[in-house]
Amino acid sequence: MSIVAIITGYSSGLGYSISEELLKRGWTIVGVARQRKPENLQKAYPGKVYHIAGSVFDDDTANNAFAEATKHGGARLVVNCAGEGCFGDVGSYSASDVMKAIEGNLAGLIVFSDRAISHMQDGGGNIVNIMSTAAKKHRISESVYTAVKWGAKAYTRTIRDAVKSKKLDIRVFEVYPCGMKTPFWSSATRPVSDGLAFPETEPIARAIVEAVLANESSYQQELTFERS
Ligand SMILES: NC(=O)c1ccc[n+]([C@@H]2O[C@H](COP(=O)([O-])OP(=O)(O)OC[C@H]3O[C@@H](n4cnc5c(N)ncnc54)[C@H](OP(=O)(O)O)[C@@H]3O)[C@@H](O)[C@H]2O)c1
Repeated sequence: MSIVAIITGYSSGLGYSISEELLKRGWTIVGVARQRKPENLQKAYPGKVYHIAGSVFDDDTANNAFAEATKHGGARLVVNCAGEGCFGDVGSYSASDVMKAIEGNLAGLIVFSDRAISHMQDGGGNIVNIMSTAAKKHRISESVYTAVKWGAKAYTRTIRDAVKSKKLDIRVFEVYPCGMKTPFWSSATRPVSDGLAFPETEPIARAIVEAVLANESSYQQELTFERS
């Protein structure tokens, strides 16, 4: 039986690349996305990729994902990668823009992290929360996105303290990617002037997977990627 990971936002961009890295290493993937289903991954790795359709901010989606993982031996890794951009000048946001930004980037990350802690209480495991360098800066053209990513950072650091205080064998990783070449930017309202200089997701995914799989008595809690 192979080791199982739940990857949210696995159908595109960084989540897709992280899934591919794990599949190459023999893992089984339970992938979550609302619409897109990466048929090519399922074809390339038959019997290793299980698709769960739905928003990460939904108990049914989380129940289905963790139940599917349990069928294959239980998840030892949960990567919260689902999220979308939210762009605009201050003074231009509607309530639905704000909710949309919160849904995947923050609320869904909380639902899946909390469920992961209960799922991993006995067997242990790893939670990887993908934030953004926006969680370390104040980006005035992305005020809402910046706020939700800072929220995700505060939540991630708090659960690390919580699992440590409960002496659970769960490691919690914070990941802060720089701008990457993905469909994320398709909704950008501001010009992505340096878009061509954005890196591909594959090397970033590889570095994340290597950090998680490093079997050592200490671990790299925080991974930040800046453009070189
Ligand atoms: N690209 C960048 O420059 C960049 C930089 C820093 C951080 N990030 C962060 O990295 C993560 C991945 O971004 P990406 O660039 O790989 O984006 P992407 O290519 O647009 O992929 C986003 C993935 O998340 C899924 N998704 C979005 N909202 C969801 C929801 N509410 N429920 C379930 N699935 C959802 C999408 O599938 P469906 O649409 O089918 O649901 C898709 O699989 C995000 O958290 C993003 O904020 C990206």
